[in-house]
Amino acid sequence: MRISRLRLFHYRNIGELDITLGPGVTLFSGRNGQGKTNILESIYFLAYGRSFRTSTPKDCIRHGETECRIEGVVERGRLERTLGVTLRGAEKTLSLYGKPSPLEDFVGNLHLLAFTHAHLGVVRGGPADRRAFLDRAMVSLYPGHVRALASYGRALRQRNRVLAELGAGARPADAGLLESWDEALVGEGVRILANRLRYVRRMKSELPEGLFGSESLRMHYLSTIGAEDPDPAALGDLFRKGLGRARERDLRTGTTSVGPHRDDLKLYVNGKSLGEFGSAGQQRSGLLALYFSQMEIHAKEQGFYPVFLVDDAEAELDQERLHTFLHYLARRTQTILTSAKDFLVPSLELDPVRFEVLGGRVRTPGPGSAPVTR
Ligand SMILES: Nc1ncnc2c1ncn2[C@@H]1O[C@H](COP(=O)(O)OP(=O)(O)OP(=O)(O)O)[C@@H](O)[C@H]1O
Ligand SMILES: [Mg+2]
Repeated sequence: MRISRLRLFHYRNIGELDITLGPGVTLFSGRNGQGKTNILESIYFLAYGRSFRTSTPKDCIRHGETECRIEGVVERGRLERTLGVTLRGAEKTLSLYGKPSPLEDFVGNLHLLAFTHAHLGVVRGGPADRRAFLDRAMVSLYPGHVRALASYGRALRQRNRVLAELGAGARPADAGLLESWDEALVGEGVRILANRLRYVRRMKSELPEGLFGSESLRMHYLSTIGAEDPDPAALGDLFRKGLGRARERDLRTGTTSVGPHRDDLKLYVNGKSLGEFGSAGQQRSGLLALYFSQMEIHAKEQGFYPVFLVDDAEAELDQERLHTFLHYLARRTQTILTSAKDFLVPSLELDPVRFEVLGGRVRTPGPGSAPVTR
């Protein structure tokens, strides 16, 4: 799989861009603040229908403009797909083959993983970051996962509304009302949980031992209902029981305190929490190890590796880890990198296709070369 063409229009500090991307390693270099991360962010947008830097899509529209567009051509074997994102004010339109597409159908067309500063939140941030990390990786593997997440979110909001309305003074007669929402939650929640438990089990078996340092990484999916086994029937029972046990507390607080929306993925290095006790280097190595296992699972399930983005390569990784990881990627998949130091990645003998980014314009380096943006 690869993204073969990227077109941007009024995206952040980029006026217009139309570039062809090769199947190997591509490097965007340039000084700070020139637009390198913006380019990666736009590619990520095509994969997930959202940015990794902001939850306010409007931020991505070039200052002073009312609309921006991202267009990409994605190739898988001989199959070509055109993906598009249009942001107009607060409105976001995703499109597939030029036709508006719901998020569930849009996501999963460009299989992609990204290592950026924001993604270190997987290790350093809270449980929500880690849940999102798992769910993103599952999008292209388990069809229906995105839909289940959306339906679960809707059921959760409804249930919380009912909890808040009933409050602590709920009468036994109200129990029936709540139970119908419990069932909606259980139905979707079981799918999400089963997927996550299966996926984490796979991830554990694919973790590279000592590839990015000698530290041994361990992981554990911490379920708020005590789920360990991905068997759906057993999960349904556990979830119902969990909701029953938490009901009084939930009525008091007006929120649902158990379920996959409250779970966490615990990460340990040498037996200690990676986020709390790991060094910066161990945290980056840990995240790389997680990505490594995700890449291998993806390749085994789908027969190809996802596209990989690395932002600010030399800032996020030391020379040795960068070398190991980029060589691993370069042999397997399209890799798109940014770096503020244009000597570093070339020194790794990866022979990247290079673009220079300057003030939102992109050009191929070398004397007399023509800019590829306007
Ligand atoms: N909506 C927007 N409209 C216009 N310019 C924007 C917008 N959002 C961000 N920018 C500009 O984009 C530039 C930052 O781009 P980006 O983060 O891609 O830089 P970078 O090349 O990755 O830099 P660094 O090496 O520091 O990471 C900044 O100058 C910022 O002001
Ligand atoms: Mg940057």
